Amino acid sequence: MSKLETVGVLGCGLMGSGIAQVAAAAGCRTVVREVSDELNEKGKARIVKSLDKFVEKGKLEQNERDATLERLTFTTEVGDLAGCDIVIEAVTEDLEIKNALWKELDGLCGAGTIFASNTSSLTIAAMAAATKRPDRFVGLHFFNPVPLMKLVEVVRTVTTAPGTFDRTMLFATSLGKDPIAAKDTSGFIVNLLLVPYLLDAIRALEHGVGTIQDIDKGMVLGTGHPMGPFALLDFVGLDTTYKIAEIMFAEYREPRYAPPPLLKRMVLVGMYGRKSGKGFYDYSATPASVSDLGL
Ligand code: 3HC
Repeated sequence: MSKLETVGVLGCGLMGSGIAQVAAAAGCRTVVREVSDELNEKGKARIVKSLDKFVEKGKLEQNERDATLERLTFTTEVGDLAGCDIVIEAVTEDLEIKNALWKELDGLCGAGTIFASNTSSLTIAAMAAATKRPDRFVGLHFFNPVPLMKLVEVVRTVTTAPGTFDRTMLFATSLGKDPIAAKDTSGFIVNLLLVPYLLDAIRALEHGVGTIQDIDKGMVLGTGHPMGPFALLDFVGLDTTYKIAEIMFAEYREPRYAPPPLLKRMVLVGMYGRKSGKGFYDYSATPASVSDLGL
């Protein structure tokens, strides 16, 4: 089975930059495409910061850091990804935007290129069907922060050829990840369980079961989670969680996936969590303090 050695990454946000970083660090020539030079610069700066942190901690040699950066190319042209063995898409969670990119790439890439989406909740089948290579289409779901989290979900949809799935599993392992196989159901394995848990924490807060701090402390000290649900919601992004919950609710029509009113209101006013400086916690000063939500 031939290895996937050249990687294209669509999107250089939080997830795309992390994916590009681990691919380049694993020795793959990696081409990253963003819509503007400014967004490419931002993504590159995130990668440099992460690599420097690893060097500072003695987990990466300076020459490996430099070689990783040399293997990365940034572009605004979709066509520059045409020669890649695998293209991984990590753009906004919007099927129309994703499918427009897949259709364009389908005409540009060779028959051997595997298409992989990092979607967290959309159906892989809905993207595979937009291309002429549904047998060479998989889900490849990474976790934030990508350079630190070992897990990748490799998702086989109804059309994915066994060979495509096997090669992608091997690819995930070659990136230093520890992959699991998941079926193409909204949320796959992890978000199917994680999203209702996060939404339940918000509902518990709405019902006055405990404070933000105590609910977080309860789950950290009581169940050994590295972060409590509110710290994790702020980390993942409230806007992202809201979008995922809406997609999962539309798929399953079960109340446990319905975004709670408090989440919706916080998103409406731009309280997205760490990325906007304020969510369940206020990050304007260090250490962060609990936000006053008027509850
Ligand atoms: N690159 C390099 N270093 C990084 C980094 C990155 N991207 N992100 C964090 N670090 C460093 C920190 O700077 C810190 O360095 P320091 O020790 O010198 O200060 C070190 O890693 C450890 O970070 P923390 O001090 O914050 O300590 P933690 O032990 O808490 O580790 C964590 C951080 C790995 C994020 C841990 O808190 C954790 O596992 N949290 C849960 C994350 C999680 O659940 N992610 C999944 C979200 S769901 C998802 O992504 C799916 C999507 O579809 C929604």
